Amino acid sequence: MAVNKPHSEGARLDNFWMPFTANRQYKSTPRLLTKAEGMYYTDVEGNAVLDATAGLWCCNAGHSRTQISEAVSRQIKELDYAPTFQMGHPLPFELAERLAELTPADLNHVFFTNSGSESADTALKIALAYQRARGHANRTMLIGREQGYHGTGFGGISVGGMVNNRKAYSSQLLPGVDHLPHTLDIERNAFSRGLPEYGIERAEVLEQLIALHGAENIAAVIVEPMSGSGGVILPPVAI
Ligand SMILES: Cc1ncc(COP(=O)(O)O)c(C=O)c1O
Repeated sequence: MAVNKPHSEGARLDNFWMPFTANRQYKSTPRLLTKAEGMYYTDVEGNAVLDATAGLWCCNAGHSRTQISEAVSRQIKELDYAPTFQMGHPLPFELAERLAELTPADLNHVFFTNSGSESADTALKIALAYQRARGHANRTMLIGREQGYHGTGFGGISVGGMVNNRKAYSSQLLPGVDHLPHTLDIERNAFSRGLPEYGIERAEVLEQLIALHGAENIAAVIVEPMSGSGGVILPPVAI
């Protein structure tokens, strides 16, 4: 299908600038999905496609669940939007309370965001503001990890370690960031059963970074417990 040719539902393909996609290549032979139910998508030709990754890890309850579409529809009819700046409505309080019950120990405050990128940048901002508020304004360094993915905001790509997401912005990334080594160790860990045996020493590099920069200058360390977008890399067993 040519880039400018309308597809079967009438929309042209060139206006939508697709993220993380080779646009020209995709649009020359597009793979369009039109429906989804349970574990399967249906493409424009009517083929069923097994969704092995639950969307982009975001449809874990399955596609087109009646309970979910009915609940969303009910809520939109009752109260579609209300501000939470200086006002409120009951539901975010209720959800925050339920999340606080599920999260460990004193993780009891919930700040809602719209995406992972926004969450990562907000977490970094909260860490910096927290250090300043408790009188440690010199704690500004952030430690991330090579191959880490924390979204597409400037904070996230700075602490992240995916080269292709960073290289066009290298002189504009956040200052005061260092990185732990990544945890991929094919030589020693290929074909592991369960969690891989080797690699805990890579986490211990944090001690060296603390010695190098001074604990009194570090605001936060941000790592994915299990790497995702940089490759699904299981953490090694702790000794
Ligand atoms: C750890 C982590 N942070 C941030 C993000 C970015 O999320 P979003 O695509 O919702 O901005 C992701 C997405 O995979 C992620 O895995």
